[in-house]
Parts: sequence; structure tokens; C-alpha cells
Amino acid sequence: RVEDGVRIFELTAQEGSTSFLPGKESETWGFNGDHLGPTLRAERGEEVAVEVANELDEATSVHWHGMHLPPEMDGGPHQEIEPGGTWRPHWEIDQPGATLWYHPHPHGRTEEHVYRGLAGMFILDDAETASAGLPDEYGVDDVPVIVQDKVIADDGALELDSDGNEVGLLGSTVMVNGTVGAYHDVTTERVRLRLLNGSTARTYAFGFEDRTVQLVATDGGLLRAPVTTDRVRLSPGERAEIVVEMEPGTTARLRSFEPELGAVAAPFAVGANDSFDVLELRAASELAPSEPVASKLAEFGLAESDATVTRTFELDGRKINGQKMDMGRIDEVVEVGSTEIWEVRNVNLSPHNFHVHDVQFEILDIDGEPPPPDLAGRKDTVYLEPRRTYRLIMRFEDYADPTWPYMFHCHLLLHEDEGLMGQFLVV
Ligand code: C2O
Ligand code: CU
Repeated sequence: RVEDGVRIFELTAQEGSTSFLPGKESETWGFNGDHLGPTLRAERGEEVAVEVANELDEATSVHWHGMHLPPEMDGGPHQEIEPGGTWRPHWEIDQPGATLWYHPHPHGRTEEHVYRGLAGMFILDDAETASAGLPDEYGVDDVPVIVQDKVIADDGALELDSDGNEVGLLGSTVMVNGTVGAYHDVTTERVRLRLLNGSTARTYAFGFEDRTVQLVATDGGLLRAPVTTDRVRLSPGERAEIVVEMEPGTTARLRSFEPELGAVAAPFAVGANDSFDVLELRAASELAPSEPVASKLAEFGLAESDATVTRTFELDGRKINGQKMDMGRIDEVVEVGSTEIWEVRNVNLSPHNFHVHDVQFEILDIDGEPPPPDLAGRKDTVYLEPRRTYRLIMRFEDYADPTWPYMFHCHLLLHEDEGLMGQFLVV
């Protein structure tokens, strides 16, 4: 609803139960329902507020992943909501159109809260995304695709025991928007899928066996131009928008193929040989025409010459630069208005990724080489292939606050919970 020019959303975290597999009830958590949450949507320039209520038996929080907003509204571990409590963050949407998402971020408990089902999409619109020739009828040819994997026991219980797996739990049941064996009826020549890796640990390589797709957007919004590709690798927390062309009366299967994880020591243990169906697209016998995707999508770019500070981050086990997350310690202090380069390196021979709150960054280079086209856009989360150095450039435009920090962390949520996270202030 809109009140006094503010778009107001309501989210209530609650317990529920979901039948993912026939005859099995799983205890799940959801926002405003049994599992997952509604898609929130707002336009650049809009004032928004969210009334968040916590009806769970334990504290939670809601973080707006990818959103540029004041740190006090960020929903990290410093903004936990006690059971029975409410929280009302508000901010102005001040960033390009993009596919963002929201999820809990309670200290040390993020993995389970997301795994149980607390997550949803937050779509931002602006003039640039509206004029890019992309399919945009929500639920028809513009479809949210939240991909998650779980382990469902014989009695329906959601297992979250990762059996000592280094990355966390790799599920044996994959679901899209909470549905196992999901399909979508396609009625147009082109369909836009907003892919979100909402898993806690698994990295996917999305694609089709029989066709390429056009990758049009990554975490923070449109690419400069569409990229034709056959695989889209997404680690936990990352998003991508793809446009798929369909022929009348045919089906196409979105799958996850064996992901390229880089130089990991035990690739099979972390999902590198897993491939499976994700979503079936079923085209009607007649398809309405779709506009072609524009050949130029967006203009943006941060200049390396504007960067005044370089910081280095080494991810090792559950530590960043030798330290585990400490709620009482500020790790970095950034000057408001500055552009910085963050050099990030995963020194382990196993997967990590890196997520920064508040900003969208660009990848300057990976081991000195320019990023591949699919990583050349605006990002807030990036997969870190082992033993490679990713140089990220980002600008901390505004929202100086000497009290409330933002987070940076690995988005493999077990790692985050176990300490692979740090805090920065913008002052
Ligand atoms: Cu998606 Cu710090 O989170
Ligand atoms: Cu990690």
C-alpha cells in the first residue's frame, strides 16, 4: 500500500508446513505464509518502508541483499528482531533497476533461517530497465526463479546436517520457488528468467542442453550489452537475468550442469559433478511475439583512477585477514564519497564467495586479466575461485554513520555463521 507517498510492505516471519514431496510434510518458515515470501517491487526514486514482524520463537532479522541504503536499515545482525517484535526500516530506492532479494541475517543463525524458507525477491524498476526490450509481464514472461536445494528425510523433516561437508549442506532435492519438479507455461516467444541462487551452499551452472541464452543482467542490474552464453554460474546469493527463446509447442529444460569451481582440491565433494533439471518451460502451440532484446542495455563504470584506497581481504577457513567475525569490532572504516579497490583472495582449495553490503561493485580484474563478459557487470556477490585475486572497485556514495556498520562476508551461509564475516563503517 502507499501512504503519504511511501510504499509500505508488510512481512511477517512465521512457522508453517510445506509438502515438497507427495505425502511428506516439512516444517518450514516463511514470510506471510508457510514458505518463502512475497516478491516486493519498487521503483527508483520511491520511498519505501517495511513493517517486519517476527512470529518465530527466536530472534531473526531481514536483510535487503543488494540494496543501497543506510546501515541502520540494512537488516544485518545489528538489527535483530526479538520474538514477538517488529521493526520498520525505511529508505529511498536510489539505484538502478535490478533483481535483489531479502533474507534473514541473525548472528550465527543465517544458514538455518534461509534454509527453512525465509527468503524472497525484491525487484527494482527504473526507466533504463523498462526500455531495454526485455519481457516484463510478471509471472507471464518475466518470471522469478528462486533455486534452492534441501535434504528431505523420510518423515519430511528438513535435514540441515552437512555431514562435515566443507561448503555446508548440498541438498538432494532441488526446488524452484519452493516447488519440486517445477514447470512454467510459456505463451510468448521470449521469456525472461530472474535467477536467484537462494541456496545456502551449492553453486549452480544454469543452462539448456539445446540452446544458448542471452544474459542481460547480473546482481546489480543490466549488463552493458547482452551476452550470449550456454552456462550461467551462480554461487549462493548471486542473481542473473536471462532471456530464453522458445519455439511454439516445444519444451525446454533449464538444468544445472557441472559447475566450474576452479582449483578446488575435492571437487566432487562440493558439487562439481552434480547436474540435474531445475525448471521445465512448456511453450504453447502459438506464442505471442516478443520484442528483441536491445543490443545496448546500460551505461555505467567506475574509473580505477578515482580509487583512493586499496584494501586486501584474504579468506581462509572461517577467517578474513586472520580474524573471525566479532560484533564488537569494526574491521574497516571507509570515508564517505570515496571510491575504493578491494583485493579479495580465497586462499583455500575449496569454494568461498564474497558479498559486500550497501554497494554494487565491478570486477576490475582477476589475477590481472579483465573479467569474462558475464562478470563485467554490477555485482554485490562474486564467486572466488581458489587462489585467484579478484580486484573489485566500488564507490561509497553516501549514508555516513559512525554507529552502524555494514557487513562483508562469504555467502556460503555455514561459513558466514561460523565467522567468515567482517564489518565496515562508512563515516
Ligand atoms: Cu545476502 Cu550479508 O547477505
Ligand atoms: Cu566461504
